[in-house]
Amino acid sequence: MEFFTTTSAASRRAGGCVIVGVYEKGKLGLGAADIDAASKGLIKRHIRDGDISGRSGTSLLLPAVPGVRSQRVLVIGLGKPGDFGIKQFRLAVETAINLIKGSKVRDIVIYLTLEDVAGSSPYYLARYAVETAGNCFYSFDEMKSGKKRRTPSIKKTGLAVKKRSDTAKTMLGAQHAQAIVEGMSLARDLGNLPANVCTPSYLARAAQKIARQQRNVTTKVLGEAEIKRLGMHAFLSVTGGTTEPAKLIVMQYRGAAKKKPVVLVGKGITFDAGGISLKPGPGMDEMKFDMCGAASVIATMSIVEKLKLPINLNVVIPTCENLPSGTATRPGDIVTSMSGKTIEILNTDAEGRLILCDALTYARRFKPDVLIDVATLTGACVIALGHHRTAVMSKHDDLANDLTDAGIAADDRGWRMPLADEYEKQLRSNFADFANIGSRDGGAITAACFLSKFTDGMNWAHLDIAGTAWRGGGKKGSTGRPVPMLTEFLLQRAGALP
Ligand code: BES
Ligand code: MN
Ligand code: ZN
Repeated sequence: MEFFTTTSAASRRAGGCVIVGVYEKGKLGLGAADIDAASKGLIKRHIRDGDISGRSGTSLLLPAVPGVRSQRVLVIGLGKPGDFGIKQFRLAVETAINLIKGSKVRDIVIYLTLEDVAGSSPYYLARYAVETAGNCFYSFDEMKSGKKRRTPSIKKTGLAVKKRSDTAKTMLGAQHAQAIVEGMSLARDLGNLPANVCTPSYLARAAQKIARQQRNVTTKVLGEAEIKRLGMHAFLSVTGGTTEPAKLIVMQYRGAAKKKPVVLVGKGITFDAGGISLKPGPGMDEMKFDMCGAASVIATMSIVEKLKLPINLNVVIPTCENLPSGTATRPGDIVTSMSGKTIEILNTDAEGRLILCDALTYARRFKPDVLIDVATLTGACVIALGHHRTAVMSKHDDLANDLTDAGIAADDRGWRMPLADEYEKQLRSNFADFANIGSRDGGAITAACFLSKFTDGMNWAHLDIAGTAWRGGGKKGSTGRPVPMLTEFLLQRAGALP
């Protein structure tokens, strides 16, 4: 999709469709007011006749409006006046795009960006608009016979600006959002692919593809022999029950000279059956999404590269399957992690932390300025926060705040949960240094506590995306979260935000 900005009035703009908004109680948005004046009161007449209510989620498409140059005017309900925030803005854009996307319209101009949106700015409005629109065009029909992925039907999107001095910020927002959309689409594709296609080797190839296309990214893929040589027996214990080879994927992006890197570690369980501690049958298919942490960090890498951010970034992905079999790890087995610490595996379904602890130990070699792991780690996180907030856990207040702030700015929110020593008692083991599970109580926190034993002295945060990485039910599918949060965090660090 191509983007441009315009300062011309809605009625003066030629093209396929201009998108304007009307609030409840008959209050016209700026674009709608201009159309109304040019058409001698057409919008107000429709409000009086009850065709336009202004309620959120409603719309009316008007073809061939007299006095207006555009072929169509799409009027979107903006909700209660004085209540127009980021959520309402995004819903308005979504309503518009979903209405137009199946039509013949090829170019649009969005005038909703002229409205006052509480807590926003021209840069972020452009970002939300383009990200929301881009995600409306996402579809996943790779696995259906005879269907091909459709390219967006809209080729050109204009964003209205109030004054010329807003143009640069608006274009920057559109450019960043376009990269975020492409990253989210990659993450969503990897998540949505079934486990018989998206294997550890497939993830490795996806990471290598980015490196092949880009000069400043390198990807290294370690096989099981090398993983063993590194002493990653916690990681290897998880892959014992499968014939699919495990991989350790290591990506490196150099965008700045002497700067310590940010290191992102992503959980890459391509299918989690639970191992010998087998999961119950219903809904088990959703455990193909257990590599969404890996997908989100690969996607973030591709965005950082696309935007050529002046930072250094490393990505580490331990990836394998967790299946039961005669060669699988048993409950009660004790393994030695790469760090030298021994772990009693009381439940083979708590496998995420076993692969991550070795990846976090491996990450030390990069001397990270910041270390963040991203994982669909616990069902307990879904119980605690539901599907709207990613759990943010860190012993470092600055890092936790930067991540939650990034989530707010990117409208991909997180919520901090405690990570404190009191919880560590739950991991005591009679036989090894500690166990891989606590009791059910505070399960998301004890999982993080387990990881904290491997990140001593590091500026580390843990994101549990078990509730946010995918949706179940009728709209089942990967969401691409927390790619916007991670990207915002890195844009901020790169000083790339206006
Ligand atoms: N991948 C799951 C976590 C998960 C479960 C995410 C459901 C989203 C929805 C993880 O590997 C797991 O099985 N965790 C166990 C840990 C338990 C055995 C301590 C869980 O949450 O039940
Ligand atoms: Mn599990
Ligand atoms: Zn898992």
